[in-house]
Amino acid sequence: MNNNTEKINEILNIFGDKSRKAYVRSFGCQLNVSDGEKIKGLLKKMGFSFTEDENSADLIIFNTCAVRESAEDRVFGIIGSMKKLKELNPSLIIGISGCMTAQGHVAEKIRKSYPQVDFVLGTSAINALPGLLLDCLRGRKFAADISEYDDFSETAEQVRENPFKASVPIMFGCNNFCTYCIVPYVRGRERSRMPQDIISEVTQLVNDGYKEIMLLGQNVNSYGNDLSGEMSFPQLLRELNDIDGDFIIRFMSSHPKDASQELIDAIFECEKVAKHLHLPVQSGSSEVLMRMNRRYSVEKYLDIVDSIRSRDPEFSLTTDLIVGFPDESDEEFRSTLELIKQVKYDNIYSFIYSKRSGTKAAEMHDAVSAEEKSCRMRELLELQREITTEHYKRFIGRKMRVLADDVSKKREGFLTGKSNEFIIVEFEGDKSLIGQFVDVEITDAMNWAVTGKIV
Ligand code: SAM
Ligand code: SF4
Ligand code: F3S
Repeated sequence: MNNNTEKINEILNIFGDKSRKAYVRSFGCQLNVSDGEKIKGLLKKMGFSFTEDENSADLIIFNTCAVRESAEDRVFGIIGSMKKLKELNPSLIIGISGCMTAQGHVAEKIRKSYPQVDFVLGTSAINALPGLLLDCLRGRKFAADISEYDDFSETAEQVRENPFKASVPIMFGCNNFCTYCIVPYVRGRERSRMPQDIISEVTQLVNDGYKEIMLLGQNVNSYGNDLSGEMSFPQLLRELNDIDGDFIIRFMSSHPKDASQELIDAIFECEKVAKHLHLPVQSGSSEVLMRMNRRYSVEKYLDIVDSIRSRDPEFSLTTDLIVGFPDESDEEFRSTLELIKQVKYDNIYSFIYSKRSGTKAAEMHDAVSAEEKSCRMRELLELQREITTEHYKRFIGRKMRVLADDVSKKREGFLTGKSNEFIIVEFEGDKSLIGQFVDVEITDAMNWAVTGKIV
């Protein structure tokens, strides 16, 4: 860190009185967005203010995602379009960080084919940003650091995007190696943060007025496995629930193979923990789950669902699904449709399988055409729309506690927010309520939200 202090001071000296603006854009999951907030924290120390307009920026950082090919293509398209901006402003500095940079072939492609990029910053190397920037300011053509700095997260200051909702990573990396997934290759092995550090951070956030705390990890249920049994995730939930203050605790993602009875008990017994579980199933076929290396069967998954719904038949569940995994048969796909009919999710996040080089699934035979995969996706989405419309009706007449989030983009005079159950709620209300909890009586249900009146 001392090393960085010197570099930061040198950068501040180079800039002098001149104001500097940075444009930082994060793609992908909330863990990456959280990294983007840490990048901004470092930039703030280096004297940068922030802009939402890349045309007025002195520094641009794209914090990238590699989970699907479409995500990468989008970033390559955007980097390509930066060439013009760089021609107009040769002193502009452009950096690429995040998961794309951790794949050797991608980092090489950036270096070779996109000369407008000045530096590449690896997923565990955010701490190297001042050094890289200094290199660029001293005229170096291309700088890169993809080393791992373990100490960084506990010392990082963040520029948080939202004044009342905060993301708190509780662990980094993933050990699961689902055969389709690039994350373990670009984020490394699981590392849990110390419980005391998480509890202190959440306590501070609550004291600062944050109302929603989102705990993040690729599999929060394996939190603590690397801490010699110091604390499990359900225990951590109970500790955080004991912090004084009016706030809600959410978490994601929860791997079904590690979802325990203790977790379910903690959700029901902790009043500040949201009554919602995001439980990614990925497929409704046990054969496909095996090929995905998910390490649970559909039966085991349904046991967890039953255990939750036996305590609250209307408990809100959401999931992630992959359509068109290599050689997914029509029958296997139909099992997924059956599963979503049976579980009745409030929402699903579904993705067409994307081949990621370096993963096991990339080597698997795949006879399913792209057209067939799109067809299946449409069928799945159509079914889920019907389920959501029907299922949301259970909320009509109920009172929901909602954290008002923003003004509605669809209806003048309306606000939008998320209920405790993670349902989008629209209601008439004044902007001054944004960032506060309100009670809303639900009067109508649509296929993407429910509406109601403040009571
Ligand atoms: N760790 C989380 C879990 O296991 O549920 C998932 C994190 S991943 C970033 C988010 C979602 O992206 C996954 O649940 C999966 O549905 C989807 N995904 C991951 N790799 C994919 C791929 N190669 N093609 C399509 N979807 C993918
Ligand atoms: Fe990817 Fe599986 Fe890890 Fe989730 S648990 S990040 S899907 S490898
Ligand atoms: Fe994407 Fe990396 Fe997250 S691959 S989904 S940004 S961990």
